[in-house]
Amino acid sequence: MADYDFDVLVIGSGPGGYVAAIRAAQLGLKTACAESRETLGGTCLNVGCIPSKALLHASELFDEAAHGTMAKWGVKASGVELDLDGMHGSRMEAVKGLTQGIEFLFKKNKVEWLRGRASFASADTVKVGDRTVRAKNIVIATGSSVTPLPGVDVDQKRIVDSTGALELAEVPKHLVVIGGGVIGLELGSVWLRLGAKVTVVEYLDQILPGMDAEVRKEANKIFKKQGFELRLGTKVTGAKVEGAGVKLTVEPAAGGTAETIEADVVLVSIGRRPNTDGLALDKAGLKVNAKGQVDIDHSFKTGVPGIWAIGDVVPGPMLAHKAEDEGIAVAENIAGLTGIVNHDVIPSVVYTMPEIAGVGLTEEEAREHGEVKVGKFPMLANSRAKTNRETDGFVKVIADAKTDRVLGVWMIASVAGTMIAQAAQAMEFGATSEDIAYTCHAHPTHAEALKEAAMAVTGKPIHI
Ligand code: FAD
Ligand code: NAI
Repeated sequence: MADYDFDVLVIGSGPGGYVAAIRAAQLGLKTACAESRETLGGTCLNVGCIPSKALLHASELFDEAAHGTMAKWGVKASGVELDLDGMHGSRMEAVKGLTQGIEFLFKKNKVEWLRGRASFASADTVKVGDRTVRAKNIVIATGSSVTPLPGVDVDQKRIVDSTGALELAEVPKHLVVIGGGVIGLELGSVWLRLGAKVTVVEYLDQILPGMDAEVRKEANKIFKKQGFELRLGTKVTGAKVEGAGVKLTVEPAAGGTAETIEADVVLVSIGRRPNTDGLALDKAGLKVNAKGQVDIDHSFKTGVPGIWAIGDVVPGPMLAHKAEDEGIAVAENIAGLTGIVNHDVIPSVVYTMPEIAGVGLTEEEAREHGEVKVGKFPMLANSRAKTNRETDGFVKVIADAKTDRVLGVWMIASVAGTMIAQAAQAMEFGATSEDIAYTCHAHPTHAEALKEAAMAVTGKPIHI
C-alpha cells in the first residue's frame, strides 16, 4: 500500500460504482470514486430509473384522476388540471434527495469523491481532473449512454434522447418514439397519459425484444388498447426539423414505399452503448470487444491484473440491480472474499401499467434446452386484481418437464415488478413449480396468481 494512494479506485458512481465503493470501504479498504457529473448516482439516479419512475407515478395519478379511473371508484375529482412544472419539480426533488443520499453514504463510509473525468495514465495510475492517483485496484464502472441513430440528430428540443424526454417543458401533441424497447414504452406511457398521441416505430416485427414471445404479444395488445400506435417492422431513414416540428421518413424494414410522419417531438431510444471514450484504456493495456464492452471473467477481472469492470460497461443486461450486485461482488473479490452474481437469475421489469416482468429463460429459450411444462394463470381470475380492476395480463411459470425445476417466470400484472422478486428468490433457491404451488400465499394478493400459475404447471389451478 505504501506508494498507492488508494486500495481501490472506482471510476463512475452509478449503481455499480457507488455500491462497489461503499462495499470496499465497509471491508476496510481505502477507497475513492471518480465521477465527472455534478452529482453522484450515475445514469440511474440522475437521468434514468429514478426520474423516469417519478414521472411514471405522477402521470399515472393524473391519468386516474383525469380520465375516469378514480370516478369509477366513487371518487369524483372535478377541474383536474395538469401542472407539468409541479410534476417536474417532484421528479427533481426525488433525484436530489437520492443523489445527495449517496453523497452522505460516501461521507459516512469514508469514500473519497474525486471530482472530474478519469483517464488511465497506466495500469495503476489514473488522472482525474488535475489530480493523478495510484490505486492497487481499479474498477471501471463507467456505465453507458444513448446509442445514436445516424440521420436523426438529437438536439434535446425536437429530437430528444431519454434525458430530453424526461424534461419536456410541454406535452407534445404527437410524440414519435423510435424503438419499441423499455425506454420507448415507459417514457411513451408518461406522455400518452399526459395527453400526447404516441407513435412507436419499431424495426423488428414485435416490441420488447428479449422478452418471452407470449408476453410481447400480449403487451402489444394492451399498449394498442391504451392508445399507442405501434408501427412494427418499420425503419426510420431520416429526420428533418422543420419549424416547430419534425418530419420523419420511414419505410418498411424489409424495403418498400417510404412515407413521412410528422411529429412535435421525436424520442430516439434504440438502445445504449458502453462508455469507454476518453478513458485511455490503451494506456492500461486494455481493449474493448466488438460491442465496445470491457470483457471480464466470472470474478469481474479484466485481462489486466488489478483492473476490474462491472455494470453497463461489461456484457450482460444493462440494469441497475445487476450493476449493484456486481458492485458488491467485485468489492468482495478485491478484499479476498468470494463475490458471486448469478447471472441466470436477473429479473427485468418494464414499469408501464400494467408492469411487465420476467426472470430466467423465456419459453422459447427453455424449449431449446429440452422438454418443458408451462403453467399460466390470467390476472382476470385473481381476486385482488379483479377487485382493483387490474385484470390485464397473466403469470406464466416454465419448468423442466423431468425435474420440475423452475426455469423462468414471466408476467404482465399491475404490480409485476414487485411480484417478480418472489420468483427470482424461488429460482435462486432452486425451487420446483411444486415448491411455489405449496407455499402459502396471503389472500387477497396479486401474488396468488404466481402460486396458481405454478399449480397450473401440473394442471391443478383452483380458480380457473
Ligand atoms: P451508470 O449509472 O451509467 O453510471 C456511470 C457513471 O460513470 C456516470 O455517472 C458517468 O458520469 C460516470 N463516468 C463515465 N465515464 C467516466 C469517467 N471517465 N470519469 C468519471 N466518471 C465517469 N435500470 C433498471 O434496472 N431499472 C430501471 O427502472 C431503469 N430505468 C432506466 C431509465 C432510463 C431512462 C435509462 C436511461 C436507464 C434506465 N435503467 C434502468 C438502466 C440503468 O440506469 C443502468 O443499467 C445503470 O445506471 C447502470 O449502472 P452503472 O453503474 O453501470 O453505470
Ligand atoms: P432497448 O434495447 O430496450 O430497445 C431498443 C429498441 O429499439 C429495440 O426494440 C430495437 O429493436 C429497436 N431499434 C433498434 N434500432 C432501431 C431503428 N433503427 N429503428 C427502429 N427501432 C430500432 O433499448 P432502450 O429502450 O433504448 O433502453 C436501453 C436500455 O436501458 C435497456 O436495454 C435497459 O437495459 C435499460 N433500461 C431499463 C429500464 C428498466 O429496467 N425498467 C428502463 C429503461 C431503460
